[in-house]
Amino acid sequence: MHSFFSGEFHTIVQLLLFFPMQKVKMSLKERYVAAMVLSGVGDALGYNNGNWEFCHSGETIHEELSRMGGLEKVDVHDWMVSDDTVMHLATAEALVKVGKKPAMPELYRNIAEKYIECMEDMNGRAPGVTCLAVVHSLKPNVRNGWRVAFNPAGGGCGAAMRAMCIGLRFPAPSQLEQLIAVSIESGRMTHHHPTGYLGSLAAALFTSYAVNLKPLEEWGQGLLHTLSAAKRHIEESGHCVKENLQAWDYFENKWINYLNERGILDGKSQAKFPPEYGVKERDAFYRTLSYSGWAGSSGHDAPMIAYDAILRAGNSWVSLAHHAFFHGGDSDSTAVIAACWWGAMHGFEGVPGSNHQTLEYRDRLAKLGESLYELSQETR
Ligand code: AR6
Ligand code: MG
Repeated sequence: MHSFFSGEFHTIVQLLLFFPMQKVKMSLKERYVAAMVLSGVGDALGYNNGNWEFCHSGETIHEELSRMGGLEKVDVHDWMVSDDTVMHLATAEALVKVGKKPAMPELYRNIAEKYIECMEDMNGRAPGVTCLAVVHSLKPNVRNGWRVAFNPAGGGCGAAMRAMCIGLRFPAPSQLEQLIAVSIESGRMTHHHPTGYLGSLAAALFTSYAVNLKPLEEWGQGLLHTLSAAKRHIEESGHCVKENLQAWDYFENKWINYLNERGILDGKSQAKFPPEYGVKERDAFYRTLSYSGWAGSSGHDAPMIAYDAILRAGNSWVSLAHHAFFHGGDSDSTAVIAACWWGAMHGFEGVPGSNHQTLEYRDRLAKLGESLYELSQETR
């Protein structure tokens, strides 16, 4: 006895102190569930029942958050999800409904049907102008009735905010062609402008990168490389090719400028941030990325701000939220995207239970995460 307690027992205690139990890694399935659930959480937090999506001062939002006791104290029970999550659910439900080997026209018909249906659930959720206006012209029961006219004002982030689940469904490099086709075609069902539907491509592509734990510095360059295949898809579709090609360069140029600024255009250098990058500096920087001054509200800059936050946040949920959910721009749109990528990489690791357990539509989101996981495994 004496020797066990003073000898071996002591050694065991010492070993436990010096070599704490290996952290249990989240399974891929858990990361899928977290991607879907946390995207809804990001949306609800960024939206704050409409109070924060439309607040133009990040500092005001951060002051209000700190009066609530900080993010850790927030219980999302009374924070409704906005249109972003309702439309993301619609995309995911269509992907799951068509099952393992969908013929594309069948999938597009289903997505169009779900987009029409989900508009019944927009009370108090502030749907986007373009989404609202164009969904009603979709005719899923007519051949190619999911195709709409080119729209010079269709560069909003409404296509990007609902596309992350496409990357969960088609995560493998061998599925890239499907990811491109589905993100573009579902995107241009409402946002028939490259700045709009390439945002959808970026949101889906980066989700696939997150699932595969691709090094963050490579993501931007990966997107630029994918744009030539995206352009080919547009040309081969034969639908409004000329207008699309004329409007093509804005998205690409904005991304080249941003990656250059962060020093990661080469896809391998460490991202560079200014020494002072607080709430005020971020608001000012995000605005420089925007189309018309409202940061994160377009197809190019919603995923860009989400990416900026992901690059900066590491594995800190709170830091991700401060950068991606709480700023003076289109907070819920950058949040829904960033939180999905973060969940796909880290699962629920370090996320306070009160931030997600009581979320509206949590069960729907979690079940879709599981189903998308099963489908992605069966058809890789
Ligand atoms: N290029 C870049 N940006 C553009 C362009 C263009 N060609 N045309 C318009 N915009 P909106 P949505 C900008 O209102 O995309 C929910 O509330 C335009 O300046 O049609 O249908 C979500 O949470 C405007 O600021 O919305 C999002 O906030 C922006 O696109 C929103 O709705 C949004 O366009 C997304 O839905
Ligand atoms: Mg919204």
